Amino acid sequence: MQPFVLESPAVRLEVPGPADVDAIVEACQDPVLQRFTTVPAPYSRADAQFFLERIVDHGWATGREATWGLRGPGSSLLLGVVSVRLGTRDIGFWTTPAARGRGLMTAAVRLVADWALGDAGLDQLHWEGYVGNDASAAVARRCGFTYTGVGPGMHPGRDGARPLCWKARLRPGDEHFPKQGWPDLTGGVGDPPREWPRADGVDDSARQPQGAPRLPEDS
Ligand SMILES: CC(C)(COP(=O)(O)OP(=O)(O)OC[C@H]1O[C@@H](n2cnc3c(N)ncnc32)[C@H](O)[C@@H]1OP(=O)(O)O)[C@@H](O)C(=O)NCCC(=O)NCCS
Repeated sequence: MQPFVLESPAVRLEVPGPADVDAIVEACQDPVLQRFTTVPAPYSRADAQFFLERIVDHGWATGREATWGLRGPGSSLLLGVVSVRLGTRDIGFWTTPAARGRGLMTAAVRLVADWALGDAGLDQLHWEGYVGNDASAAVARRCGFTYTGVGPGMHPGRDGARPLCWKARLRPGDEHFPKQGWPDLTGGVGDPPREWPRADGVDDSARQPQGAPRLPEDS
């Protein structure tokens, strides 16, 4: 798969490359980013180079994962990263601390979801975030994902265990407006534990993907 650009009036998504190493290294020092993602901690320049070569370039080349760098219109400065793993049909993302709260990731996820459920042919797109990651859940909710429940994450955390995650999914034709049924996202990190609704949509993200694209290594 060849990398390509996705664009809206708010954001420009373009494959990250060597010129983005400094921005990636700086962003990945953020404790919030480290807490809610599986980036290495501590995070070094070598980690960013590994990410660009082994995850970004390899992902595009094999068609397994499509990764974009988020930029403002007319700017080359990297403000975040968003990616879709086509086998597991899930989306992941982060923004630099300075860029947060401006609606940039919401705009980016809308673009990427439209591609994933359109041209890429996925029958659904999964989002999951560690329980308590209100900002990430707010992005998924705003983009029209339906909350499906709470359960062990698809991907192991840094300690090798599968962390407890909120889960949601988006299907082709779902409109990009917030659905009912999400947990109360006003608690904030560090508040006492809350009850997480186990939505009747049932978490099916761990099942073998049906209708996922056939990948080169599967043949
Ligand atoms: C999650 C993240 C990518 C959001 O990026 P962003 O560019 O700030 O996203 P947006 O500005 O488009 O939307 C942020 C939403 O979160 C809400 N939000 C931000 N911080 C919040 C908090 N502490 N509690 C509740 N909601 C919060 C905002 O109000 C907004 O919701 P709204 O559109 O309903 O008002 C960013 O916070 C981040 O990089 N976090 C660390 C890494 C991470 O958690 N990645 C996701 C892993 S699943």
